[in-house]
Amino acid sequence: MSDVLDTLAEHRLVPVVVLDEARDAGPLGEALVTGGLPVAEVTFRTAAAEDAIRVLADRGDLLVGAGTVVRVEQVDRAVAAGARYLVSPGTDRAVVERAQERGVPVLPGAVTATEVQAALALGLDTVKFFPAGTAGGSRAIAALAAPFGGVRFVPTGGVGPADLDEYLALPCVAAVGGSWMVPRDRVRAGDLDGVRALVADAVALATRLRP
Ligand code: 3PG
Repeated sequence: MSDVLDTLAEHRLVPVVVLDEARDAGPLGEALVTGGLPVAEVTFRTAAAEDAIRVLADRGDLLVGAGTVVRVEQVDRAVAAGARYLVSPGTDRAVVERAQERGVPVLPGAVTATEVQAALALGLDTVKFFPAGTAGGSRAIAALAAPFGGVRFVPTGGVGPADLDEYLALPCVAAVGGSWMVPRDRVRAGDLDGVRALVADAVALATRLRP
């Protein structure tokens, strides 16, 4: 795994961020850092994503990645804005290869044995398990880990605090991702104290669940 993925694995949590306004990125970054989780996956689902990545990356104290990267040009825009890792909901060869050309770790989505093999064939050893909640959850990951011993999974999608223990108990789970720590409506409403509290709660829980 790369240094960047090692850092994600140390934090064990990846907040999935959907920002409607780039101006919310600064306060959100503050809430993440003061909440004890200097990590963000800013999704390319809104027009604000690129600017938000830039604002967060420019702080210098956050590991910022781009999520929902589904097109090659988004790889380039994300990297130019300062994203240090990329996440996709599925596995797309062109996206993965562009990320590799740019030297940026990429976590494509994979929930079946065929998809995991496709990621391995592209030279990857860490995948996003998405959407985790409906794709079989921790039992499916444990089953996939049997044949794919060296693969690390980042379950994301439909995950909440109540699911953390079962995912983080699996040695093959590098980190768990989700938006529950950074709810879009709270960020939009400027409730950064509320976001900080959710982040701090998630960090405390993940720390308690450390092996
Ligand atoms: C993602 O892009 O990873 C998911 O939309 C996050 O899923 P969640 O909102 O259910 O946590």
